[in-house]
Amino acid sequence: MSSIIEDVIARKIFNNRGEETIEVDVITTAGFGRAAAPAGKSRGKTEVIYYPTGGVDAAIKKLDEQITPELAGLNADFQEEIDDTLHEIDGTTNFKNIGGNTAFAISLANAEAAANSHSLLLFQFLGGTAANTLPYPLGNCISGGQHAKGKSPDIQEFLALPHGAETFLEAATANTLIHKKIGETLRKKDKTFNAGKSDEGAWIANIDQADAFETIAKACEEVGNEMDFECGFGIDIASSSFWNEKTQLYEYANEGTNRDTGEQLEYVKDLIEKYHLTYVEDPFHEEDFQSFAQLTKQTKNCLICGDDLFTTNNERLSQGIKIKAGNAIIIKVNQIGTLTDATETMQNAQRHGYSCVMSHRSGDTTDWHIAHLAVAFNCPVIKTGVVEGARIAKINELLRIEQFLGNRAKMADLKVI
Ligand code: PGA
Ligand code: ZN
Repeated sequence: MSSIIEDVIARKIFNNRGEETIEVDVITTAGFGRAAAPAGKSRGKTEVIYYPTGGVDAAIKKLDEQITPELAGLNADFQEEIDDTLHEIDGTTNFKNIGGNTAFAISLANAEAAANSHSLLLFQFLGGTAANTLPYPLGNCISGGQHAKGKSPDIQEFLALPHGAETFLEAATANTLIHKKIGETLRKKDKTFNAGKSDEGAWIANIDQADAFETIAKACEEVGNEMDFECGFGIDIASSSFWNEKTQLYEYANEGTNRDTGEQLEYVKDLIEKYHLTYVEDPFHEEDFQSFAQLTKQTKNCLICGDDLFTTNNERLSQGIKIKAGNAIIIKVNQIGTLTDATETMQNAQRHGYSCVMSHRSGDTTDWHIAHLAVAFNCPVIKTGVVEGARIAKINELLRIEQFLGNRAKMADLKVI
């Protein structure tokens, strides 16, 4: 089957926040692919630029005038060539001219079009016959930080990780039960609770940080007992969002506490020990590789994951690898632009024993590609919420993949646990 690109078409659609975003169709002589770009709210400083000046409209114009004519006639099977062409047309290091989200949507739509041209699903096309491992779903249950309002915790996300599940369906089921239980507890704890949820479908409540920890710990324990397997949990501190460069302090405004770097290290270590956390993301601000290294050295059985720290950027990851900063990396393809760039980062991570956590963004669509990427690239964890349409699109696609694989399907090896 031939996968020669005949046309690339872009349109404006909306994400779950009602923000404009770009969706791209790639049409080949034998197949079709479609992808839409997500958007972050607590973005890393070193992410690529999402759109050229003029936003989505300007991006679509550039695609029509400059990109489609260059891509037409190329073979979609050669992802690297497609992505290199996008870099060449852009001509900058941060996709400032065509927009990282434009590159993302073309890159993913191209991969799907190539897979479709060969009558394969995306995960099979990218991962081959070895791609039979399902990731554990890391699901946001309580929102704080930049994802919430009011007196919610300063920590951005409290995330269930049902790491004892034997199938993806069991794991996803556990997450829905944990999420539901937490809602019931919050209703009792918080007089002002009105069942509000964040963009990622996690509960928003006026509770303090300690209450949030107790609530999710109890829900995980109870669901673990009901389902007869271990359900752990973790946090995304997203600490860049409350690190004050001037005072050199982590300012937990709602908690009313400031912590310097040393105190932050001790605090996070205590949390890991007290709640048996299996996952901690961005415990230090995005330039503090050293503290990531110290925490990684001083803890065990916990994924210490860099999101804003690495921004899916291979050079930043290499900087971290040198001093063993963290043992896991968030993969958000639109932080870096193309699938080829993200693949290089994932391969580097895996070579050096880092776990890859495939991730959604808080602003997202029903695009399900990350479900396939997680399986194709053997990621042990996928971070994609528990409820809310954009999250469920990914979870449900993984359920389809699990069914498709039948008895070849297995759950990932979550090394640290
Ligand atoms: P986002 O952040 O709002 O940038 O998607 C989510 C996260 O910090 O993991
Ligand atoms: Zn994060």
